[in-house]
Amino acid sequence: MSASQYHQVIIIGAGAAGLMCALTAGYRGRDVLVLDNAKQLGRKILISGGGRCNFTNQQTLPSAYLCSNPHFVKSALARYTQWDFIGMVERHGIAFHEKTLGQLFCDDSAKDIVQMLTTECDWAGVKVQLRTEITSVEKSDQGFVLATSAGEYRCDSLVIATGGLSMPKLGATPFGYRIAQQFGLKVLPTSAGLVPFTLQPDDKEKFECLAGISLPVTVTASCGQSFSEALLFTHRGVSGPAVLQISSFWKPGESVSFDLLPGIDFVQWYKTINAESPKLSLKNALSRLLPKRLVERLIELGDLPDKNLNQLGKTEVDSIAAYLGNWQLAPGGTEGYRTAEVTLGGVDTDELSSKTMEAKRCPGLYFVGEVMDVTGWLGGYNFQWAWSSGFAAGEAV
Ligand code: FDA
Repeated sequence: MSASQYHQVIIIGAGAAGLMCALTAGYRGRDVLVLDNAKQLGRKILISGGGRCNFTNQQTLPSAYLCSNPHFVKSALARYTQWDFIGMVERHGIAFHEKTLGQLFCDDSAKDIVQMLTTECDWAGVKVQLRTEITSVEKSDQGFVLATSAGEYRCDSLVIATGGLSMPKLGATPFGYRIAQQFGLKVLPTSAGLVPFTLQPDDKEKFECLAGISLPVTVTASCGQSFSEALLFTHRGVSGPAVLQISSFWKPGESVSFDLLPGIDFVQWYKTINAESPKLSLKNALSRLLPKRLVERLIELGDLPDKNLNQLGKTEVDSIAAYLGNWQLAPGGTEGYRTAEVTLGGVDTDELSSKTMEAKRCPGLYFVGEVMDVTGWLGGYNFQWAWSSGFAAGEAV
């Protein structure tokens, strides 16, 4: 066992938030050590955005975050904005593009973002030590004492940046929640967010033949939150950006509503097309608006009539409009942490300073990134929270 080592700041977790916190504190002249139990740093960054890392969103606003205290995110997001991070990406000459809805992705690879953070940490004099298990954390008179697989470490400021529970395969652990509880901080119940839905057995049987079909929809949860994005049918249920987004707002037992014809007035459209081609089947007509296999399946299931346009009465046309505009699905559940992009819930933000991320009842202890009860929408918002909260703590430690 090596002798006890002292650093002014120790950060546990070499992910997005931990590295941003480290480089910010390092540039302030603080002596910073980052510890991580993984073999590689920034593993979630590497796999994010399909390997291209959706590193921020141009439209980042506090309203794009779920948190039991919606005001909590404002200060950190205002002090380190999407434009600050974009500036860093540009200074490193990393090429990027907007994919859709303000979402910025690397042109080449997420590796560029990890390389950028590693370089910045080097320049800021930060030490990173991987493959280190933390076995205990205790408060001392001067700060904190950590027992680890690499010996004992002491520090004045301790930052917990160990992320949430999503993707245990990538090394996600409940470490951060345990430390919060150990120091008497409230941890709000956690669940999988930005995650595909599984279907109830009946619906699975009905719709699994549609796997691979994707279409634009507007999806709405019981709480009224809605998103206009793509719906994807899968072998296990439904996914795609629309479903991932709404999953963060869904509660077990609730249904979600899909407008399968967003922006289209079906009754008006029917009148026009019926006037042009009255003998056209509803199936062929609707296949101009929706994937043909979906229309065929809805007819097979008896959810839509197998008739020609001119055989449809006014009530029938109205009920088709209502059905397609409000297609209800009651998910059986979600695919859980195995495939979730984020974890809802976590360290209660009421326990933390929104300016510094320091625990109010345990001076010197900080929480940054996904470990806390802040979850962004899909689209680069979660990394922006990692950068902003990491920066806020990095300025304070
Ligand atoms: P993060 O999980 O990144 O880092 C935590 C670190 O702590 C890890 O290095 C881990 O090894 C370490 N650690 C954990 N337990 C430990 C322990 N007990 N001891 C020591 N170290 C420990 N977001 C976004 O904005 N755009 C995107 O494109 C994507 N894409 C995406 C794809 C996939 C597949 C997933 C799973 C997630 C995303 N996300 C995303 C979400 C994003 O990855 C996530 O919000 C951030 O990585 C959170 O950053 P943190 O630094 O808080 O945790």
